[in-house]
Amino acid sequence: MREDSLRRRLDKRKELGMLRTLKVHSEMVDFCSNDYLGFARSPILYKKIEDYCSQNRPRLAGSTGSRLLAGNSTFVEELEKSIARFHKAPSGLIFNSGYDANIGLFSCVPQRNDLVLYDEYIHASICDGMRLGKAETVSFRHNDLEDAGRKMISARNPGNKRDIFIAVESVYSMDGDRVPLQEMAKLCERYNAKLIVDEAHATGVIGAGGAGLVNDLGLEEACFARLHTFGKALGCHGAILLGSDVLRNYLINFARSFIYTTALPYHALASVKCAYELLPGADKDRMELNDRIRQFGEAMGVHRPLSTSPIQCVIIPGNENVIAVALQLQHDGYDIRPILSPTVPRGKERLRICLHAFNTREEAGSLIEILQRIIR
Ligand SMILES: Cc1ncc(COP(=O)(O)O)c(C=O)c1O
Repeated sequence: MREDSLRRRLDKRKELGMLRTLKVHSEMVDFCSNDYLGFARSPILYKKIEDYCSQNRPRLAGSTGSRLLAGNSTFVEELEKSIARFHKAPSGLIFNSGYDANIGLFSCVPQRNDLVLYDEYIHASICDGMRLGKAETVSFRHNDLEDAGRKMISARNPGNKRDIFIAVESVYSMDGDRVPLQEMAKLCERYNAKLIVDEAHATGVIGAGGAGLVNDLGLEEACFARLHTFGKALGCHGAILLGSDVLRNYLINFARSFIYTTALPYHALASVKCAYELLPGADKDRMELNDRIRQFGEAMGVHRPLSTSPIQCVIIPGNENVIAVALQLQHDGYDIRPILSPTVPRGKERLRICLHAFNTREEAGSLIEILQRIIR
C-alpha cells in the first residue's frame, strides 16, 4: 500500500470522527485507567518490588529469548505455580499480555470441526484469536442464556462429536456488567461445552482476596480455561492462562503467541509476584472502590447500563456528541475517554468511566454533578 492510500484511509477515518490518536498522561483526575486498586501508583508496591529485586538480583536484565529457548527460569515456573494455587487451578502458563494469551488460546485449541460460541461483546483479543483459528465461530446475544442455549442445541446434532467452546468475560470491558456465570456453567454442563472465562476486569476486584469471579462462585471445576491479566488491577503487565496440566503442555507446543516471542524479563515477573502478595490484603482498597461504585450507581441510576463493576458507562449516542462531551470533561480536569462506534454499536457510543480506590468521594461527586447537568 502506497503512502497516499494510507493517508486517504486516515482522512476517511477523520471524516467519520473515528481517528485514533495517542495521548500522554496528564494531571487530570484519572477516570480512565484500569488501575482499579491504585497498585500501579502504589508507593508500597513500588518499594516492595525495589526491595525484592535488590535482595534477589537477577543475573540478566532481559529474559534473552523465548520460554522454549533461553527465556525460561525456575522463577517464572514457580510464579506460575503460586498464581495457579491462588486461583485454585491445576496449572498456569504466563503470556506476555492478555492479548497474546487470548490469541494463543483461541487460535490453537478449537479445531477445524469445533465450534466457538462467544458473547457478542467479547473482547477484540478473543475475536482476533478466533480469526486465526480454524473452528466455526458463532456469537450469541449479550448475556442471553436462551440464545446461547439455542445455539448449543443446534450445534449438538446427534452423532456430532465436535467440541463446543463458550467464551465469556466475568466483567465486560465496555459495559462493565457481569456474565451470569453460574447459569452459563450449568448450560455448558448440560450440553457438554467447554467454558472459557476471561477474568481481565475481575482480577483483583471481585471475590475474596480479589481472586476473581470464578473463585468467588466456586466454579473452578466448571471451567476449561481462565484468563487473569496483570495489567489492570494488579498494576503490572502480562497475563496467565489457567487450566489443566495437559492444556498448559498443549499451549507450550501450539500457541504461537507463546512460542515465537521473547519472554517477560525478570523485573516484570518480580513485579507480578509482589503485586500478588499484596492482593489478598487489599480489602481496604476494594472497600473504597466499592464505595465509589455505589456512589456512582445511586446518583446516575437509569442513565447508565447496569454495572456493579469499576467500569461505568454513560451512553451519549453519536460519535461527534460523545467526543464533544468527553472534551468538555477533559477541559474541566477529568480524564474520561469516549468510546466510539464501531468499537461499540452505533447509537451506543458512550463515555467509559473507570472508578478507582484512589478517586475521592469529592472527585466522584463533582464528576457526577457535571454529568447530571449534561444528560438532563
Ligand atoms: C476482557 C479483556 N481481555 C483481554 C485483554 C487484554 O489484556 P492485556 O491488556 O494484558 O493485553 C483486555 C485488555 O484490554 C480485556 O479488556
